[in-house]
Amino acid sequence: MQPFTYSRKGIPFFHEKTKLEFQQDIYERYHEMVVRQSALHIADELWGRYPFQPILDFAEKHYPQEAESNILEIGCGVGRWIATLAKHYPKSTCWGIDYSYQMLKRANEFWVEGQEIAIDLSDKGLDEHSQKGEQLGNLNFGLAKAEKLPFEENSQTLVLNSFLLDRLENPTMGLKEMYRVLKPTGKLILISPLNFKKAEHWKVYYPPSQLANILKEIGFLVLDWKDDVIVNEPLDSHGNVVRWKCLGFVVQK
Ligand SMILES: C[S@@+](CC[C@H](N)C(=O)[O-])C[C@H]1O[C@@H](n2cnc3c(N)ncnc32)[C@H](O)[C@@H]1O
Repeated sequence: MQPFTYSRKGIPFFHEKTKLEFQQDIYERYHEMVVRQSALHIADELWGRYPFQPILDFAEKHYPQEAESNILEIGCGVGRWIATLAKHYPKSTCWGIDYSYQMLKRANEFWVEGQEIAIDLSDKGLDEHSQKGEQLGNLNFGLAKAEKLPFEENSQTLVLNSFLLDRLENPTMGLKEMYRVLKPTGKLILISPLNFKKAEHWKVYYPPSQLANILKEIGFLVLDWKDDVIVNEPLDSHGNVVRWKCLGFVVQK
C-alpha cells in the first residue's frame, strides 16, 4: 500500500484532487449522484429487490476459495458490492477505491462508521427512508484513480469493478493497473454496460470480442464471460426503469 497525501473525514487521498477536478466531476454532485447511489443501501426495502443482483449471480461463482484474501473494488461508489464481500470474507482485507470524495464519504459513514443514513428520494415520489449502517472492521475506503492504483504489484487476490470501464478516460491504462496489482492467478471481475461516451472508445473497445483481445494482450486469461447481465435500475415510484445490458468478464492473471 502506498502512502496517502492527506485524509478528510476518514478518507485517505492517494491522489491530490485539485479544485478544478472536484468541480468537473459529476460524481461529486451530492443530490444528483450520491443520493441516487445511496438508494442501493436500502434497495431491497425500497424496490422489493436488489437491482444489481444479476451482477452478484454472475460474479459469485468466481469469488476466492481462500478465507484470507485481499479484495479490491475500483469505482466502488457508495460501497455496497465491496461491503458484501467484506461481510462474506471477515478475515480478508477489503478496499473500495473511487475518485469521488462524496461517494467515499457516504460509503465510509455507512459501512465503516455505522451511521444511520436518511435517504430523501421525495423528488422521485418516494417516502423518506433511513437505515442504520454497519461497522465492518476489514473494510477501507480511499480516493485514487483507477489509472494509478495505490497498491503494490502482485498484492490482490480479487479485483472487481462495475459500471466503471466506460467512464474511464483511458480504459487500457485502468486495465493494466488492475493487472499490475493482481497476484499471479488472481482474478478480475469486470462488469460494464459498455455505454462509452467517446467515439474513439467505441472503436477500440467494441464489440466485446475486441475488448477480450485487449485483455489478452495485457496478459489476462479469459475464464468466463456473459454479454447479457441485465440490470434494471429503478428511477421512480411509478416503476420507470433504465435497462442496462452489461457485459461481464472474469479474467485471470
Ligand atoms: C456509474 S458509477 C458506478 C458505481 C458502482 N460501481 C456501481 O456499480 O453502482 C461510476 C463510479 O466510478 C467512479 N469513477 C469514475 N472515474 C473513475 C476513475 N478514473 N477512478 C476511480 N473511480 C472512478 C465514480 O466516481 C463513480 O463512483
